[in-house]
Amino acid sequence: MAQVFGVGIIGMGWMGEVHSRSYRSIPDRFAGSGLIPKLVICADGVEERARGAQLRFGFQRFTTDWRQVIADPEVKVVDVAAPNGMHLEINRAALQAGKHVLCEKPVGREPRETLESYAAARKAGTVTFVGYNYRWAPLVQYARKLVAEGKLGKLTHYHGRFLNGYAGDPLGFLSWRFEQAQGLGTLGDLMSHAIDMAHMMAGPIESLTADQEIFIKRRPIQQPGSGTHYDRGRSDGPMGDVTNEDYVSALVHFQNGARGLLESCRVINGAKCDMSFELHGTKGAVKWNFERMNELQLQFRRDDDLAQEGYTTILSGPAHPYHRHFNPGPGISLGYDDLKVIEAYEFLSSVASGKQGEPGFREAAAVARVQQAIIRSWESKRWETVEKE
Ligand SMILES: NC(=O)c1ccc[n+]([C@@H]2O[C@H](COP(=O)([O-])OP(=O)(O)OC[C@H]3O[C@@H](n4cnc5c(N)ncnc54)[C@H](O)[C@@H]3O)[C@@H](O)[C@H]2O)c1
Repeated sequence: MAQVFGVGIIGMGWMGEVHSRSYRSIPDRFAGSGLIPKLVICADGVEERARGAQLRFGFQRFTTDWRQVIADPEVKVVDVAAPNGMHLEINRAALQAGKHVLCEKPVGREPRETLESYAAARKAGTVTFVGYNYRWAPLVQYARKLVAEGKLGKLTHYHGRFLNGYAGDPLGFLSWRFEQAQGLGTLGDLMSHAIDMAHMMAGPIESLTADQEIFIKRRPIQQPGSGTHYDRGRSDGPMGDVTNEDYVSALVHFQNGARGLLESCRVINGAKCDMSFELHGTKGAVKWNFERMNELQLQFRRDDDLAQEGYTTILSGPAHPYHRHFNPGPGISLGYDDLKVIEAYEFLSSVASGKQGEPGFREAAAVARVQQAIIRSWESKRWETVEKE
């Protein structure tokens, strides 16, 4: 039976656009699911962006006041794609109004705010979801299944990283992402994906020791509402200080005894979007990198034939989760936006069933507690224990 969900999106920058496209794709890619998103209202602080998004994606209305999205009786789900510093206030208001909420990562400007959003969600009892989209690659879901079925044996070591060159150019704009007042730097932005992936693949992190650095200390100031964080400014214009971290790394112990290494950087040269992991167990190993998201390196121990031991490349295909919704054949690739379509579909499925799916604010809170331990370790220079829920 078809179910219609009124959607309101706040923040019509890159993610607001991707999310709008994703909801529109659900009745196409997940035809037969009965989930019909209705784009009711979009908000952006810059009127031109809000109006442009209405025209482009077919929202019924637009506004420059995000509170109108929450007050709108037709809106059942609120999608938060605004800068991190606004997430807590919007989440609280939306949850108090009884709305279901999909919030982009990181769910708070800093870990404490993510934990506060989680507390508000528990009180409200509505469904929450988080934009940890890398989870949804068909081959990542397949790798997760192999781990859950014990095919890799006992997990021994996890190496996860998110190396992204989006800020590698010293003339890249000083957007809200580089201001401590707007939240964490790489720890909130990229590392939140890497921690969530580590939790999903290898279980909760128990303790860690961490490091950080700002490599590019000053950047050109950006005009509000212009461009994305991939755009660059001029060397002779006004410059401002970068006040949050470019780089973060952590040695970690998982609760199951596995050891690990996590690393993220936003000013790297070479890697462009190296969101990747390598997971080793006593019976095998898997290796995946978003830059080649339709390939999985896989090895099972072949004690009967050592000559054939080593990674084999598997190509994404209809035998893997979700792939057939996009393409009928193996080796016909999916892309980033497809992961966002799966995310939006899983979110609305969760709302439709009334059963909280993953990743919700609970999983974001688990990431936040790891981030808190990382920040403590930056100061103490020691191993720190991750707080339990
Ligand atoms: N999951 C992912 O892969 C991924 C990728 C990029 C960004 N993100 C997250 O998405 C969020 C948005 O990032 P982005 O890259 O789209 O940023 P962006 O800067 O492109 O867009 C943010 C938008 O919010 C608008 N905005 C600012 N103040 C506002 C207000 N008071 N009311 C309404 N709108 C306002 C801005 O004008 C801008 O259009 C962030 O939380 C970021 O961490 C996630």
